[in-house]
Amino acid sequence: MLEKVDFRTAQREAFRADVIAGLSAPAKTLPARWLYDDRGSELFERITTLPEYYPTRTETAVLREHAAEIATFCGPRAVLVEYGAGAGLKTEILLGALENPALYVPVDIAGDFLVASASRIERRFPYIEIRPVVADFTEDFDLPADLPRLTPRVAFFPGSTIGNLAPRDAVGLLQQMRRHVGAAGRAVIGFDRKKDVATLVRAYDDAAGVTAAFNLNLLERINRELDGDVDLARFAHEARWNADESAIEMHLVSREEQTVAVDGRAFRFEAGETIHTESSRKYALDDVARLADSSGWRVERTWTDPDGLFAVVGLA
Ligand code: AVJ
Repeated sequence: MLEKVDFRTAQREAFRADVIAGLSAPAKTLPARWLYDDRGSELFERITTLPEYYPTRTETAVLREHAAEIATFCGPRAVLVEYGAGAGLKTEILLGALENPALYVPVDIAGDFLVASASRIERRFPYIEIRPVVADFTEDFDLPADLPRLTPRVAFFPGSTIGNLAPRDAVGLLQQMRRHVGAAGRAVIGFDRKKDVATLVRAYDDAAGVTAAFNLNLLERINRELDGDVDLARFAHEARWNADESAIEMHLVSREEQTVAVDGRAFRFEAGETIHTESSRKYALDDVARLADSSGWRVERTWTDPDGLFAVVGLA
């Protein structure tokens, strides 16, 4: 219990530090991970069911359609290590297809969340052993030393979450996965593919306004947790394509010149000035191959949907 309280206090202080630093920068920015409080996670769940937001349903369909081949690629008796627990249905599709999986190792920074998703998996697959690991997978960490050694290890990273990492951080994470699974190990990673800009912008600026609410919730979180006085009506959600970064960016645009207070400090905005809140990088298959090459992997298999929107990639 005390650990939980400590974690919450530490999270609050980290949020405060990030908000003060991000709003003080010449180009205002906030780390995307703060989008996911309880309300943000709920809104993201709604995003995954929107007609315009194709990634979740497309990746799920690719996994379903090619489950047998992906399972063969992973091999029998696999130790499946998932970076970020709670992909839910996608994890269940892969675990259900694997031949005699030896162990499932979900890795997540949020302990409560990890326990909840592990117990869901346990109910559905009572015969699979589960070893949850509490860690921030974007930082260096080691897997428990006593994991089975003689069976193949597979790193699983669905959701195109890799797209939220800057390229150098994506390389770092893939290198860490290689270190975790060893030279004989494999990885199964979801990448959202480059496509026409209109489709991308629609996916991040839906007609029902759910993505706008998701983005604006970050300002509400600042008001709630950091004693902010931000007037949400004075900010607008914007999704824009950054061609140089090959990324969809979410911004919060100040509708007018204004000053907001957070934690007793004042932050000035020009009219039209933005807070950059998320980048979601889109990969051509060539980009995936280059990324794999520069992080100790090679692309062995690529599974995709009929429209070529999304790729599930098998690395070896
Ligand atoms: C869950 C981070 C992969 O980037 O597509 C959805 C988050 N942001 N709509 C993505 C998100 C706006 C999503 N990821």
